[in-house]
Amino acid sequence: MEIQERQILEKHLNADVYVKTYNVLERDSIIPKELSEASFGNFQTRTDQERALKEFAENQARKYLKGMEGNTLITGGTGIGKSHLSLAMAKAINDGYKEQGKPVSVLFVSLTDIIARVQDGWNYGKGGASLAMQEAVEMLVSPDYLVLDDLGAKNAVIKPKSDWEQDFLFSILDKRTNTIINTNLTGAELQTVYNQRNYSRILKGLEGNTFKAEGIADKRYRIARMKDELKKSQSKSGLSGS
Ligand SMILES: Nc1ncnc2c1ncn2[C@@H]1O[C@H](COP(=O)(O)OP(=O)(O)OP(=O)(O)O)[C@@H](O)[C@H]1O
Ligand SMILES: [Mg+2]
Repeated sequence: MEIQERQILEKHLNADVYVKTYNVLERDSIIPKELSEASFGNFQTRTDQERALKEFAENQARKYLKGMEGNTLITGGTGIGKSHLSLAMAKAINDGYKEQGKPVSVLFVSLTDIIARVQDGWNYGKGGASLAMQEAVEMLVSPDYLVLDDLGAKNAVIKPKSDWEQDFLFSILDKRTNTIINTNLTGAELQTVYNQRNYSRILKGLEGNTFKAEGIADKRYRIARMKDELKKSQSKSGLSGS
């Protein structure tokens, strides 16, 4: 009886660990629809730059799986696959640790999205705003690995973020060790947008863990154009057939 009880208890404890770990990525992440299938396997590489970017991302995931600590930063233009590869890294880290039987939690979020949600709470006066913000901070501090997608989403004018946004990011980065960040902003722009204390925390453990993507084409544009061309050719053949 005692053994049986202990086995049941252990099973529940393990289930609890599981809920708090491997499935965080699937349960709590905010993943844009266009990225839902993103993986290393379906990242196409036609140029040396694309190959280098993919290799960097794969290598970072491998390094984290070997216990490396510190942040990862990918900078570069829009539509080049930064989010695609950041999510691929998150999946690889999650799956890799699961295979090793080591419980870790991985979360993928867009900082802009989280900020909009906290602000919504303010605008509509839902609950205590400070609580909503505190909850958001806790959500982003607790995972072992966090992907901050699209840090500082580039606006037409590069200007410093508001004080509360700076404080919000600070409360997160100050308590974190392994954060994978991607952004459209250049290093210099990051320094304009974020204060020194935040910038310094973005750089935490970044030596050898940063990739500046240059000369890679916008795939979003190409995907849209390809779909458009496909539609046109289909409607043409439809017309000729009728
Ligand atoms: N090399 C690639 N192979 C296959 N799909 C790609 C590749 N690069 C990008 N994509 C796809 O193109 C779309 C845009 O990529 P992604 O969202 O990763 O760009 P991004 O660099 O994060 O852009 P932004 O800075 O605007 O957020 C996604 O649907 C992604 O899956
Ligand atoms: Mg992106």
